[in-house]
Formats: sequence, C-alpha cells, structure tokens
Amino acid sequence: MKGIILAGGTGTRLFPSTIACSKQMLSVYDKPMIYYPLSVLMLSGIREILVIVTERDIELFRSLLGDGAKLGISIEYAIQDKPRGLADAFIVGADFIGLDSVCLILGDNIFYGDNFTKRLSKIAKDIQGGVIFGYHVTNPNEFGVVEFDKNGKAVSIEEKPIIAKSNYAIPGLYYYDNNVVEIAKSIKPSGRGELEITSIHSEYLKQGKLQVEIFGRGTVWLDTGNHKDMLDAAIFVEAIQTRQGLYVACLEEIAYRKKYIDKKRLIELGESLKSTEYGKYILSISDDNFFEGE
Ligand code: G1P
Repeated sequence: MKGIILAGGTGTRLFPSTIACSKQMLSVYDKPMIYYPLSVLMLSGIREILVIVTERDIELFRSLLGDGAKLGISIEYAIQDKPRGLADAFIVGADFIGLDSVCLILGDNIFYGDNFTKRLSKIAKDIQGGVIFGYHVTNPNEFGVVEFDKNGKAVSIEEKPIIAKSNYAIPGLYYYDNNVVEIAKSIKPSGRGELEITSIHSEYLKQGKLQVEIFGRGTVWLDTGNHKDMLDAAIFVEAIQTRQGLYVACLEEIAYRKKYIDKKRLIELGESLKSTEYGKYILSISDDNFFEGE
C-alpha cells in the first residue's frame, strides 16, 4: 500500500500565520504539523509516501523531510497547482499509486489512540473497496457526515450538510483499493467546483464496497482548522508527552521501533537535535525499556 499526504491549500483560515508558508509547516506544540499525518502512515506500515503540496511550498517540505531516506522510508512530492478538491489527490498521484492500494491522509489531521496502530496496519494489509471512519463530534455539519441505519450500516454520506443526519464526522484518513483512481477520474465537480472526497465514498457505497469503522472514545482525532484548534492540539500533545514521557508523532522513534532504521542512525538523528527536548527524547529511546501494551 502507498500513502498520500495532502498538504496543498492556502490555509486562509489561519492567516496571517499562513500568508507566507504552508499550514502544515506550522508547529503543533514541538514539531511541524506534517509530522502527525506522516506518523500515522508510518505506523500503518506504509513506507512509500507522496506529499502533495503547492508550488510555493515544495522546497520547504523538501528541506524538512528530504527523500525520507534518513527515516528509512521514501518520500516523493507532487504539485497541486490549485485546490481542486481532496479527490484530485488520486489524479495528481495516479502514476505514484500505479497498481497499488492507497491511504490518503489530510495534512492537518491529528490522530492518537491506544491500539490505533494495530488497527490501521490490519486495514492496510488487506484492503478491498474503501475503508473510512466515523467519529462522534458535536459539530458534524463542519465535516463529511456518515449516516447509519439501525443495524449500524452506513446508508448515506454527505459533505458539510446544513442539517447533519448523524453526529458521526468522517476524519481525513481514508484507505482504498486501486479502483479509487478510476473513480476519482469519473466523478464530477460539486457545486463549489471541487472534486469531493464524499463523491468517491458515495460511489463505493453505491457499489456496496464501502466499510465505515467507528473510532470510539479511546481515539483522539483533532483537526487544526483555526487558531483555537491549533492551540487545543498543542495543549493535548504537551499534556500526553509530559505525563507519559512518550512522544506523539516522533518520526525517528517510529522509524526505529518499526526497524526502518538501526540504533546507530537513531543516535545520529538524536545528536543533530540534541539541544531540544525532542532530540534528547530520541537519544533516550536507544536504550529504553518501553513495552507496547495491549
Ligand atoms: C475535509 C473533507 C471532509 C472531512 C474533513 C476532515 O474537509 O472534505 O469530508 O470530514 O476534511 O478534516 P475540510 O476540512 O478540508 O473542509
């Protein structure tokens, strides 16, 4: 399975902070926002990743993440010249996807939760059709919304409805088989002129090939649409990291625990950042006694 991070867009809701640079470059507590979605792909076991960015920002992403080799993964970049909707990612990324299945994650979505990794790895290993998630929120009309029948089967998907048919928002993390590329090419732009991800899901649903899994109470999903959301996310990350002494989205740690890099590389990466708590954390991992519980 391949992975795509969609990090284009103009970030107008975060002006003036994003007048000159991508929203995904802004810090969420102690690391750039893009580390969070990248960590989710790595935790899913995905090592071939395409980052879709604007032409303005491509060099910034390159200097931050490079080709991924230092983390034992491969990162490529593609330019989206204007925001044509989320589903455009599968058209921009068609060659990169090739004949593979694909996971799309939005560059401003943050996930955290126990058992999350195992669940995602399982989905990534054997995908047929599409797998998306439902997450109970207080403000569903700000998102894609999934409606269920009384047996818990998904019956409709709507993008930012005025009156939502359920409280279940659809987070920006989606897994698909290879048919997604053809579906993306076949859908028509919505009233607002965008290729909506919701149209892809409606098509999979029509074909009886859409699976909607629930992220329950133990899973955290935050999006970073405005300044308050950014602060809330930063406070959350700080609280977890300080309490547990375990970091959220430390890419070097994930690469090491997944055996994408060896201890020598881990130490080199930590040394280069050792004037920060983040760097010291990396160095502390090389001989820790951490066990992943159930
Ligand atoms: C997008 C999608 C929406 C989804 C949301 C998750 O909306 O269109 O279906 O629920 O991401 O973050 P956006 O936040 O880009 O307006």
